Amino acid sequence: MGERWYTESVIYCLDVETFQDSNGDGIGDFQGLISRLDYLTRLGINCLWLHPIHPTPGRDDGYDATDFYNVDPRLGTLGDFAELLHEAANRGIKVIIDLVVNHTSDEHPWFQSAVASKDSPYRDWFVWADKEPADRFQGMVFPGEQAETWTYHRRARAWYYHRFYDFQPDLNFANPLVRAEIKKILAFWIQLGVAGFRMDAVPFIIELTEPGRSEAPMDFDYLTELRQHIQWRRGDAVLLAEANVEPEKLPEYFGDAGGSANRIHMLFDFMLNGRLVLALARQNPEPVIEWLKTTPKLPAGGQWATFLRNHDEIDLSRLTAEQREDVFEQFGPDEDMRLYDRGIRRRLGPMLGGDRSRLELAYSLQFTLRGTPVLRYGEEIGMGEDLTQAGRYAIRTPMQWSYATNGGFSDAEPIRPVISKGEWGFEQVNVTAQRHDPASLLAWFERMIRTLRESPEVGNGTCACVDQPLPPGVLVHRADGPTGSMLFLHNLGTDDVTVDLGNLAGDTDHPNEVFANQEYDEVGDFTALRLSGYGYRWIRLRRGAA
Ligand code: NOJ
Ligand code: CA
Repeated sequence: MGERWYTESVIYCLDVETFQDSNGDGIGDFQGLISRLDYLTRLGINCLWLHPIHPTPGRDDGYDATDFYNVDPRLGTLGDFAELLHEAANRGIKVIIDLVVNHTSDEHPWFQSAVASKDSPYRDWFVWADKEPADRFQGMVFPGEQAETWTYHRRARAWYYHRFYDFQPDLNFANPLVRAEIKKILAFWIQLGVAGFRMDAVPFIIELTEPGRSEAPMDFDYLTELRQHIQWRRGDAVLLAEANVEPEKLPEYFGDAGGSANRIHMLFDFMLNGRLVLALARQNPEPVIEWLKTTPKLPAGGQWATFLRNHDEIDLSRLTAEQREDVFEQFGPDEDMRLYDRGIRRRLGPMLGGDRSRLELAYSLQFTLRGTPVLRYGEEIGMGEDLTQAGRYAIRTPMQWSYATNGGFSDAEPIRPVISKGEWGFEQVNVTAQRHDPASLLAWFERMIRTLRESPEVGNGTCACVDQPLPPGVLVHRADGPTGSMLFLHNLGTDDVTVDLGNLAGDTDHPNEVFANQEYDEVGDFTALRLSGYGYRWIRLRRGAA
């Protein structure tokens, strides 16, 4: 592995409470996760991102913490967490955790103290207004579920600011004590051994909110400070940020001091996510190609994190109304599948109609595009969603391990029902069945991930679309780095096609196909590369630099 581990990783994200219960209380826990680390090792991932693990009333699935220095007792103890870090490290797996410090839970002792008295030492840790702010009804993140961003607190006799739900009061980052405390939180978890943080809601952390001013100034310097702070504590720790902002604004999040990223190491590529989904819906790679061509250039050490599904709705808000309609029509035809007027609350398997070839195509494309791929638990076996669950909980059902009670997740009543009926039920979709079947989706993911990890140029090289006339539906791109060059062909359409890439043949050295959806003829002189409907081919062009 090269200098920067995060550019050659495959990240797997999960929520401990829905992964594996070990003590029969219906709630997944650290010991349960430890017992599944061998499964994750076999899958080939080498970084785990855990959704919030702190004590919480659970009103936003843990994104509402009451103590940043502890773990939710339902998941185990800090001791169990330390064991998890140790066991993961033994298997070469790094662990990063969700850091949700834009806000606390309203049950956090800091907020409780702040509302109790204007003289509380924590009063100024939150954002207040004495009069009703003019922008009270602006900037809501959860339309339909959230009515305002400023709420009057009777006990506090003032208005407090909350970018998200009203039970998630925003911390006041203009206060130096808050800034210092957040640094202490990061340092604490680094000291325990985490490899970094998935930082929640970064644009809202650095906004310096003032009542009545909906466009708050942004303090990017705080990100520089945080970065320096963690890097002194652990040289290879990383920040992976959620910043779903306009493309022009992305570079500032990476920072660029003397040509190197000096703030966030990795940003989720939300633009790519929307465009991948649009491209799949239209069976036309154009939106992806356009984005790859116009993506802001990254400073050295900056990296994209790519994803198809995460734990939230698929956010289509950066597509045009017409594009969004096309996606809704294909992948979210029922009102019930949509959320917040902008997204889809489904897993990829059902979205693609359970079509195995199309699923492979989609994941092959995501994993070979520039950046570090992030895979959500359960996608590797093609799990479905449960639309009877409220909002985003539809895609947060327990992992389906086997044919046993509750899919092997727990002997007890699970915290959330396991999908048990129909074609997505655990008797149809589970790890045990797929583990024994070399033709399963799980076995496919294992092979795909292993091949990717033998192709480091995808994560740390350049990525370019091959710019020449191609059959409709086809995307050809290449990855070039110090270790060599790879070529990737993807057919988003259903027709078999033949692609002429003869002009590339000169620049190769013993080219060979390392992965594909089916057996194809030898690559030969590249003038007649066949590609089936929904087909894909990974071709190593050469080892070493050209
Ligand atoms: C973004 C997280 O991904 C989402 O799940 C959460 O509800 C909000 N931030 C608030 O923390
Ligand atoms: Ca448990």
